[in-house]
Amino acid sequence: MGMKTFRSEASLLLISFLLLTACLSIIEAQQCRPSGKIRGRKSPSGHCNIENDADCCTQGKLYTTYKCSPPVSSHTAAYLTLNSFEAGGNGGAPSKCDNKYHSDDTPVVALSTGWFNNKSRCLNNITISAKGRSVVAMVVDVCDSTTGCDSDHYYQPPCANNIVVASRAVWKALGIPLNQWGGLEITWIDA
Ligand SMILES: *[C@@H]1O[C@H](CO)[C@@H](O)[C@H](O)[C@H]1NC(C)=O
Ligand SMILES: *[C@@H]1O[C@H](CO)[C@@H](O)[C@H](O)[C@H]1NC(C)=O
Repeated sequence: MGMKTFRSEASLLLISFLLLTACLSIIEAQQCRPSGKIRGRKSPSGHCNIENDADCCTQGKLYTTYKCSPPVSSHTAAYLTLNSFEAGGNGGAPSKCDNKYHSDDTPVVALSTGWFNNKSRCLNNITISAKGRSVVAMVVDVCDSTTGCDSDHYYQPPCANNIVVASRAVWKALGIPLNQWGGLEITWIDA
């Protein structure tokens, strides 16, 4: 093998290596890694609101926190949960986007921290699809993935990073039988 051939093969190898490294770092950047962990604290008795099956932090258990959510695509996969957005409901405080409560008969949602993206989707609509049906719902609140297990979060664990919390109007519009309300694989897209 002549020196010239060797050089061009070596540079081809180098270029391939650089390309591969670049691709891997792009994939890396798209992955959403945990930002930390918090240790569950027991809620003062009666302080964890267990309406709608919301679970309370278990003392000593480690909960993973996230500042990001999976990348948004044309059919972002998410897990739909149920909560109230009304005053006195399980949602607690007024919605972060407008500091208001919302009727559970209106299709409203809260998104995990990463998708909420520092209020960038506030009062915008998303289209939620499941089982061949879809519904347009307004983003009004965040489901905090960065912290939890404290009085501000009703002693509930941090939100997973792929959650769409929906009012009952959303569940109704999707035609989900009442006995299945609470947890469902869905996809969503900005409307
Ligand atoms: C969120 O938005 C506010 C207001 O636009 C800005 O001041 C703040 O730096 C942003 N925070 C992050 C983490 O991007
Ligand atoms: C979202 O949908 C609601 C109800 O249909 C509508 O009133 C509102 O204007 C929409 N928001 C945006 C930003 O398009």
